[in-house]
Amino acid sequence: MNRRLLLTRIVQGFTITGFGFLAYPFIRAFVSTFAEDVSFDIDISDLSQGESKTISWLGRNLYVIRRSTEITEMLAVSNEALKDPFSKDSKQPDFAHNVYRSIRPDIFIAYKNCTHLGCEVSSRPNRLDVGFECPCHSSHFDPSGRVHRDAVALFNLEVPDYQYISRNLIRLIRS
Ligand code: FES
Repeated sequence: MNRRLLLTRIVQGFTITGFGFLAYPFIRAFVSTFAEDVSFDIDISDLSQGESKTISWLGRNLYVIRRSTEITEMLAVSNEALKDPFSKDSKQPDFAHNVYRSIRPDIFIAYKNCTHLGCEVSSRPNRLDVGFECPCHSSHFDPSGRVHRDAVALFNLEVPDYQYISRNLIRLIRS
């Protein structure tokens, strides 16, 4: 390599490094703005007992359900027919390691995707034994999204991370 080419390479190297230093704050600001945008607030004030709504978030659909008192009471005592009643092998935040798989017993949030092959499950709000049913290969889940022992799906429905901003406002958090 001759001297002229060597100098050109050195100048190019400094230019690229300088550009990187200049661009870094802008890239960082963009990334943090993006990260903030991925949280999503859900108003549950319009949900009465037994009602649910669907929320689309990060390309997936979720159920937000206000359980009836009857279902909340049933969940506290029944877990016989379930594959993973204590959700040891299921995807969920730490706060969901209880029979309700939620922060508050009366409000349940879960992704709709069946844990077998991803079809969207349907809610069965009037049944105590089956909370969700998959139309593809008939996996059943209890009202906490816990999969029944005889289902082809192996895991409970996935619960997203979230927190309460106020009594009726829930913030979904990207985990
Ligand atoms: S995708 Fe739900 S049971 Fe197969």
